[in-house]
Amino acid sequence: MRILVVGGGGREHALAWKLRQSPHCDALYAAPGNAGIAQIAECVPIAPKAVSELVAFAKQNAIDLVVVGPESPLIAGLAEALQEAGIRCFGPSRAAAQLEGSKAFAKQVMQQVGAPTAPFAVFDDPEAAKAYLRTRFMEQACVVKADGEALGKGAFVCDTLSDALNAVEFLMVEGGLGEAGKRVVIEDRLYGREMSLLCFVDGHTVLPMPPVRDYKRAFDSDRGPNTGGMGCYTPLPDAAPELIERALSQIVRPVVAEMAQRNTPYRGILYAGLMVQGEQPYALEFNCRFGDPEAQVLMPLLESDLVELALASIEGKLHTVDIRFSPRAAVCVVLASGGYPGDYRTGLPIEGLEAASQLPDVLIFHAGTRAQNGQVLTAGGRVLNLVGLGDTLEQARVNAYRAAALIHFEGMHYRTDIAQTVPA
Ligand code: AMP
Ligand code: GLY
Repeated sequence: MRILVVGGGGREHALAWKLRQSPHCDALYAAPGNAGIAQIAECVPIAPKAVSELVAFAKQNAIDLVVVGPESPLIAGLAEALQEAGIRCFGPSRAAAQLEGSKAFAKQVMQQVGAPTAPFAVFDDPEAAKAYLRTRFMEQACVVKADGEALGKGAFVCDTLSDALNAVEFLMVEGGLGEAGKRVVIEDRLYGREMSLLCFVDGHTVLPMPPVRDYKRAFDSDRGPNTGGMGCYTPLPDAAPELIERALSQIVRPVVAEMAQRNTPYRGILYAGLMVQGEQPYALEFNCRFGDPEAQVLMPLLESDLVELALASIEGKLHTVDIRFSPRAAVCVVLASGGYPGDYRTGLPIEGLEAASQLPDVLIFHAGTRAQNGQVLTAGGRVLNLVGLGDTLEQARVNAYRAAALIHFEGMHYRTDIAQTVPA
């Protein structure tokens, strides 16, 4: 098969690395890819959001399967556009991707099926939103979320009423996130431990992957601003099988059944962001794609063939396949540019990649990198993902940090507490 991966981050490097190992993969392309992906696939300079260019490329190059990394092209309808051209796409339709594309839609679906989730209200009018906050905050801290696609910047977890009012002002009045924030969801703030539960879904059948814990804050001990994710690990010692079964039976399967009932069946990866209190999971959000960096720890542990899983998801045959994961542990540490998630410089040379890549039980997935005259340069906020593997979490963590100690670029920063603490 001729396969195209859409995207150019660490997640897509991990997906490309896994796809390349499949006996079904005869040719691998990535749009736009990065310096790491370029070592295993042919990179083409097409942006993930350029739906018609992607479809034209796939047609011209006789692509059989497209695997989509980020949410934007899915929310924009890439899966249907490819399908119309007779090309298989691993990822949900535009209508099904609304589970990530609209927070209000996702909450309404959760409410309809009775999935445990925080109480919420939806507002199109800033004054009504503020009035709600003034009464609700008397009892209860709230989270203000932009309804639309906000690239991970749309949720304001507020400690005080004035923070929450400011979030409404920023989103709805100042238009700080454009159209995405014109409507907001306000929900009760939940406390507990977060986990990411990613599942393969084919419209009906749900095959879960091991739960992952993601570290969103920029600095150690959960200080600093939110980022796209500074690291993660799996397996989770605090995720008993009964807890996962509860999340599947109360949240994921009912939502998948509801989407089928509405004639917008969900096919692809469904990522449930959960907050767990005691042994009870609550749904915080859905994503319509693999997590980044969650994919970087899941792909190395996935023993089944990713091409076969993707095809079974598209064809509604997941009930016929067996999904197997290694019982080992994986820890991912993200090396970020100085200043990230704010402004940062790019084009800085990266040293030590060769030495780090020779360490046993270490995989390096590139994120924001580019190659120039044989040298790998920084090209984004999150630059590299160092994945340590081990028979225990501790071993995996030591391996990831051993790799981090060998790599250097000017301004580089990373968290030193991945897999050591549970983020607040
Ligand atoms: P979201 O944009 O829905 O993905 O939320 C981003 C992050 O905000 C989540 O990963 C949580 O860390 C946090 N968050 C979202 N909703 C809540 C909530 N109801 N209570 C506490 N934290 C939340
Ligand atoms: N790691 C969080 C996400 O991919 O949305």
